[in-house]
Amino acid sequence: MKRLASVLALLLFLSACGPQPAENSAAPGMGGNGMMARHHAKIPENYAGLTNPVTSDEASLERGKTLYTTNCASCHGDGGMGDGPAGAALDPVPAAVAHTSQMMADDYLFWRISEGGAGFSTTMPGWKALDEQSRWDMINYLRALGAGTVTPGQGMGGAAYDHEIQAARQAEMLAEAVKQGVISQDEAEAFKLVHDALEKYQIEHPEIRNSSANATERETAALAALVEAKAITQVQADGFREIHDKLGTAGLMP
Ligand code: HEC
Repeated sequence: MKRLASVLALLLFLSACGPQPAENSAAPGMGGNGMMARHHAKIPENYAGLTNPVTSDEASLERGKTLYTTNCASCHGDGGMGDGPAGAALDPVPAAVAHTSQMMADDYLFWRISEGGAGFSTTMPGWKALDEQSRWDMINYLRALGAGTVTPGQGMGGAAYDHEIQAARQAEMLAEAVKQGVISQDEAEAFKLVHDALEKYQIEHPEIRNSSANATERETAALAALVEAKAITQVQADGFREIHDKLGTAGLMP
């Protein structure tokens, strides 16, 4: 059971991603610059392995909420769905951080918030001017937003985190992929099935997020665990990767 849990942790990583480039492929010109490439990028040494030292208690969430509403919600939206007014025209659009923070490890989030989009050619600003505790407070707050355990602020607009909205976006993306002939209808359905199983697992097992394996290894392990638990078949697990890659190559993942 424990092993299953650790395997499934990988899933978290999968679900928010596009194609699966080789390690370090986030470098310009290698494997594109989509969300999947960012999620699978090698974390710089001075951030790799960091874990959140700040307990997600009421005081931290209160600080996180003020910091987030002041500095982040204009782009990422009050609910962390990536739909703030200042983000709409950006390419890539701001990440749905309430969602992706459920899947990504502490070190990844701390790195990305500290350094911003430099290195990925995105408009995400870096926040090293805020002290470390503040950056961790915001990570606590993002995860609480996605878990639905805090009420979003109402400063900037944007939807509260909502699984239905996330699912509708995915359905739209898959319909577009079928329409463009990138994948078949059967592949779209298989993708949704595996993706949903992964996401459910991730949310139920937040402890897997910080497992030391890299994102690609975690992904492999998670799929194997789902197969072992008979939540999905081996064929579906193998197919998921391929479909993921096709969607990424076609630029259908933001
Ligand atoms: C000017 C708009 C803007 C502001 C302000 C902004 N962001 Fe972002 N952010 C982005 C964009 C665009 C992306 C997607 C591209 C990327 O990952 O570099 C992003 C990505 C991220 C990611 C990576 C998520 C993932 O799944 O890879 C995190 C975490 C994040 N932002 C947190 C924050 C926090 C916390 C703040 C406030 C302190 C903030 N952002 C302020 C635009 C913004």
